[in-house]
Amino acid sequence: MLDNPILKAMMNRKSIRKYTDQVPSDEVIETIVRAGQQAPFASQMCSLMLSRDRENIPWEAPISFLVCVDSHKLELIMAKRGWKLITNDLFLLLLGFQDATLMGENMVMAAESLGLGSCYIGMIPYEAESLAKKYKLPNRVFPLVELVMGYPDESPPPRPRYPLDFVLFENEYPEFSDKRIERAMKVMDDGYMAQDYYRDGDLMLKLKGDREETFTFDTYGWTEHISRKWGQWLESLDKMKKKFTQRGFKI
Ligand SMILES: Cc1cc2nc3c(=O)[nH]c(=O)nc-3n(C[C@H](O)[C@H](O)[C@H](O)COP(=O)(O)O)c2cc1C
Repeated sequence: MLDNPILKAMMNRKSIRKYTDQVPSDEVIETIVRAGQQAPFASQMCSLMLSRDRENIPWEAPISFLVCVDSHKLELIMAKRGWKLITNDLFLLLLGFQDATLMGENMVMAAESLGLGSCYIGMIPYEAESLAKKYKLPNRVFPLVELVMGYPDESPPPRPRYPLDFVLFENEYPEFSDKRIERAMKVMDDGYMAQDYYRDGDLMLKLKGDREETFTFDTYGWTEHISRKWGQWLESLDKMKKKFTQRGFKI
């Protein structure tokens, strides 16, 4: 792989879950957000709610951004132009997710370049209503993800990723052989286990129902973790749909 300062920063980035007391200055925060804004956008359907309320930020990080998909602003502008938005809300949300996600990740890398670390919090959509109340979000603004930031007080290793041949396919999607799947699983599991990721964080997920526990921290890796998450959590589609309808989106 090639190397340069930007690639180095990308390859060395890792989620940070321990922060010093140092508070980023307004100039640092504004720089990060301006760099975030320069991400590619479809319609700039993103707003950020900044919080410096340490006590209520994960890992007591000094700042966090609630990254929101925002159709409200767009519709205000369209109204001034004499237009009404008719795009279906599902596609609109997909566009908004893309705008918000790209902006968030630009912010992550800008923060890295200034010596800050960060971590996303992904369960935010399930808290959409209470967050809407807390931040007085108007209808058609949907809290997508929280981005926690501050100066790192830990230096974990970069985390494993799938091998390239499990991600990049040219021209035609492959039919996976068992061997290829197992090789990708081994890269992820061996990688996480070598870092004692689940042991150190005591992160083994409990089994629901009558499945018997057969794993220990010597055998529990990323593929078991991710299987337990998405094999046991958040089945109800109606519950998720309600989160969007409560925020004024018709799905
Ligand atoms: C959308 C999203 C949601 C995430 N949610 C959480 C979270 O709720 N808690 C957490 O500790 N990490 C969360 N993470 C961080 C991931 O666990 C982390 O990015 C992944 O394990 C890879 O590690 P790395 O970022 O250090 O490379 C989230 C990351 C993303 C992109």
